Amino acid sequence: MGHTNLHVRKAVIPAAGLGTRFLPATKAIPKEMIPIVDVPMIQHIVEEAVRSGIRDIVLITARNKSAIEDHFDFNYELEDTLDRKNKKDLAEISKSIGRCCNLISIRQKNPLGLGHAVLCAEPAIGNEPFAILLGDDLIDSKIPCTKQLIDIFEKEQASVVGVMEVPAKEVSKYGIVGGKMLNPKLMHVENLVEKPAPENSPSRLAIPGRYVLSPHIFEYLKHTHPGKGGEIQLTDGLQLLAKKEKLLAYQFDGIRYDAGDRLGFIDATIAYALRRPELASGVKELLKKHLGS
Ligand code: UTP
Repeated sequence: MGHTNLHVRKAVIPAAGLGTRFLPATKAIPKEMIPIVDVPMIQHIVEEAVRSGIRDIVLITARNKSAIEDHFDFNYELEDTLDRKNKKDLAEISKSIGRCCNLISIRQKNPLGLGHAVLCAEPAIGNEPFAILLGDDLIDSKIPCTKQLIDIFEKEQASVVGVMEVPAKEVSKYGIVGGKMLNPKLMHVENLVEKPAPENSPSRLAIPGRYVLSPHIFEYLKHTHPGKGGEIQLTDGLQLLAKKEKLLAYQFDGIRYDAGDRLGFIDATIAYALRRPELASGVKELLKKHLGS
């Protein structure tokens, strides 16, 4: 692909959306700061990037979202007070979030779509391949999903999108890929369709929100016309990329939660709470109580 640096060192996290599905909660707080148990959604996402070997995180943000930047900074007053009260563990939790990454934030001044949000990251990414992680898709896996995609990118020297199989009736909720299967988990993508009707869908492989892309995507996005709702769609930019260079789709290992949707959020909350040793038995009791069994 002719990049000077093929190592994936940076990730873009688009978090400038309005979060309308979560109103009124998102009126004054960013959707990404809503916690799954006690960890804000966006921290789960940043941790996936960090565990995948990425330190530089480009956050695409918007007005009224500065709580996200504060979360990844130190909070001297809080940490000093906790230290003095001998709550070293809590102080360390707070400090370690401040240390975990370099956050580079860029404003998307108008919410003109996911493709436009990614294009806003160009000055911070330059001519390097990079990962994209959507702020409200949680993927629970042993090897972080982004790391799985980076491994494919480095081996195959091609852009790659993470995909998962969905039931036919759900294809209309996602970007769907079509193409040739190279092995049971890897597809050479020939076309992408945003939210197709089941009868027109090229496959049942959906893109939930993980990508590792060549920086050429910026050029393709500049040539992408606004689509549905006047927004620049990332899927349309990827469609142009797939015509000119190799694009792969990899069926990643892991369970995905759409935490930007109310039921998906509740699903993620229950799953993540049951994994916490100090909460699991209490949560099981509560579920039994509510289900009356
Ligand atoms: P969504 O459409 O799921 O998120 O976009 P949203 O707009 O925040 O939420 P709803 O649909 O109104 O409830 C997917 C991701 O793309 C980002 C969002 O922040 C989200 O992480 N996004 C979307 C942007 O950064 N900018 C945009 O213009 C649109």
